[in-house]
Amino acid sequence: MVSYKELGLVNSKELFKKAIQGGYAIPAYNFNNMEQLQAIIQACVETKSPVIIQVSSGARKYANQTLLRYMAEGAVAYAKELGYGIPIVLHLDHGDTFELCKSCIDTGFSSVMIDGSHLSYDENVAVTQKVVEYAHAHDVTVEGELGVLAGVEDDVSAEHHTYTRPEEVEDFVKKTRVDSLAISIGTSHGAFKFKPGTDPKIRLDILAEIEKKIPGFPIVLHGSSSVPQDIVKIIKQYGGKMDAAIGIPEEQLRAASKSAVCKINIDSDGRLAMTAAIRKVFAEKPSEFDPRKYLGPARDALKELYKHKNCNVLGSAGKA
Ligand code: G3H
Ligand code: 13P
Ligand code: ZN
Repeated sequence: MVSYKELGLVNSKELFKKAIQGGYAIPAYNFNNMEQLQAIIQACVETKSPVIIQVSSGARKYANQTLLRYMAEGAVAYAKELGYGIPIVLHLDHGDTFELCKSCIDTGFSSVMIDGSHLSYDENVAVTQKVVEYAHAHDVTVEGELGVLAGVEDDVSAEHHTYTRPEEVEDFVKKTRVDSLAISIGTSHGAFKFKPGTDPKIRLDILAEIEKKIPGFPIVLHGSSSVPQDIVKIIKQYGGKMDAAIGIPEEQLRAASKSAVCKINIDSDGRLAMTAAIRKVFAEKPSEFDPRKYLGPARDALKELYKHKNCNVLGSAGKA
């Protein structure tokens, strides 16, 4: 059993409290490898932003949970070495079972998500309660989810959004004692969030309804990549196929950050930024075969993207 406290990590409680009071959101960036983690830490140190680094089931399969945990421990020391010890939360993204959440808590994660959104309401309550009981005994924070995002999440896919029902949130939060709640208001995972020609809009009206039911309670938005069109253009310019890639407009995320939304999940934009940079190197320097020569530019592009998010979208810059 390793406590996250011994690793220099923090849970999300204080960060969320300050974020709601201050009208900004904490960035939750996914990582699977060293370059992504370096970019996240460099960007957040340079912008003095608190950060949630998150590990999905896919990341655990790709990189190994133990290795990722040691990398997170290294990230705490790395931030200090870069000159500023920002608060870092190590979070399990989309945990699907009690056993997985427990295993992460036991190995040093400071926060977990139990995603029971595909279960019946009562089953979702039951599994979330069980995770909260174990997590709180170890001072680990828990994110639950109500409502289903459209799109693909690991092996589960939903064709349409099932928006979170505002009339359910108070009961869910009371029964489960979760620390934050992920909601479905029209965001979705991946780079193809809206059909071309439709209005790319999230349901800020449902968010407002939810806030009325649970005032000041921390809300989380998944699927919040904006799919920057300048990055998509570079991918296409260098041979990528990315037609109809559309994300959440930044101004809508900025508006949401000013409310009780205090954690915003971004993964796909980082994947796009790395892909664009790598495609460019491969196209312009076909004889290059040193991975540092293409992963390095990818890391730089990722860092710039995250700095932009912290400063201009989430408003977390300067809050560490
Ligand atoms: O929720 C989805 C995240 O972008 C993680 O994706 O399961 O492919 O690592 P992944
Ligand atoms: P995006 O696919 O929009 O980046 O969402 C990531 C996410 O929600 C991770 O949990
Ligand atoms: Zn997600």
